Amino acid sequence: PVVAVILAGGTGSRLYPASRSDRPKQFLALGGDDDRSLLARTAARTGFADATLVATRPEFAAEVPEHAPDAEVVVEPVGRDTGPAALYATHRAREAVDGDPVVVVLPADHHVPDADAFEATMARGARVAGDTGRLVAFGVEPTRPATGYGYIEPGEERGGTGSAPAYRDLAAFHEKPDADTAAEYLDEGHYWNAGIFAWTPAALFREARGTPLGPLADALDGDDPDPEAGFWAVEPVSVDYAVMERAARAAVVPADFAWDDLGSWDALERVLDAGDPDGDGTDAADNAVAGDAEVLSVDAADNVVAGDDKHVSLVGVEGLCVVAYDDRVLVVPKEEAQRVRDAVDRLKEAG
Ligand code: GDD
Ligand code: MG
Repeated sequence: PVVAVILAGGTGSRLYPASRSDRPKQFLALGGDDDRSLLARTAARTGFADATLVATRPEFAAEVPEHAPDAEVVVEPVGRDTGPAALYATHRAREAVDGDPVVVVLPADHHVPDADAFEATMARGARVAGDTGRLVAFGVEPTRPATGYGYIEPGEERGGTGSAPAYRDLAAFHEKPDADTAAEYLDEGHYWNAGIFAWTPAALFREARGTPLGPLADALDGDDPDPEAGFWAVEPVSVDYAVMERAARAAVVPADFAWDDLGSWDALERVLDAGDPDGDGTDAADNAVAGDAEVLSVDAADNVVAGDDKHVSLVGVEGLCVVAYDDRVLVVPKEEAQRVRDAVDRLKEAG
């Protein structure tokens, strides 16, 4: 059996001020053509799985059923980033179905217009994970030297004979490089990491030993699992740094579907433009407009504007994200949109 695990416990700080501590990005309806939240749209793409779990931290657990009514909610004792979350949810997946499952871990912040192509690829990746006992990542063809993604160096080609799906060795995994290194990876033919993984519980627990997730793996693996103690025994760490960068046996399956990560404001422009090349998502001056913002543009182009029922006037500016929700305003150049996280960290420090 295949179990889909949706990771929906992040705060989405790069989408501030639309996302706030009590309103994380997975519950927002950004970048879609309907009112469904990112989490609801993610859950609607899990038809390839026999069961779906949504993993989240305690603060968000009560709201999950509104967005994913058919999923089982897995609550982490405390937010420790995606490494502990993925390991714990994978452990819980063993209990959710009869027989040894393959687990497919999905972020809740992706834009994937073609659900059929997506589900076919997930089924292929799950098969590779089940057949080979490797950790399987999905590789997206990169189009720019993005610094917000992981990069995968592919190795030897394998499979692809008979009905066995094709995949490649995962030769190296590099999470979030700086811009120069990202440009080199692009030249060298690396993939972007889609942030989606497939593995058997046995494979993940094998690879988690000797990593920062080791103490949690030990706490979950005995006869008497103790998630509470295990979570308090680990530091926050993403699954990419904790496991993927050091996995001994991993594979990459090409992601042959259109894909974007909606985790930062610059992404909205790509998604709105792609979905709507001649108009609705973008105004006449080619500003991308999201949410309920209304824009007056005077010699202003290539900006991203988002807001809740705000009227925004842009005069003579280019390449900015201008975002206004509640009593908060954010202005950031598009190419620095990843750094909104730093502003949110400062706000938290300031209380
Ligand atoms: N359950 C749970 N618990 N989920 C969490 C937690 C947590 O503590 N922290 C984050 N998440 C969820 C987020 O809600 C999101 O759905 C998902 O995990 C991924 O987190 P992001 O913060 O969006 O990760 P990223 O985009 O910076 O990087 C990852 O995805 C990229 C592609 O989208 C990495 O895997 C990159 O390598 C990858 O390229
Ligand atoms: Mg993301």
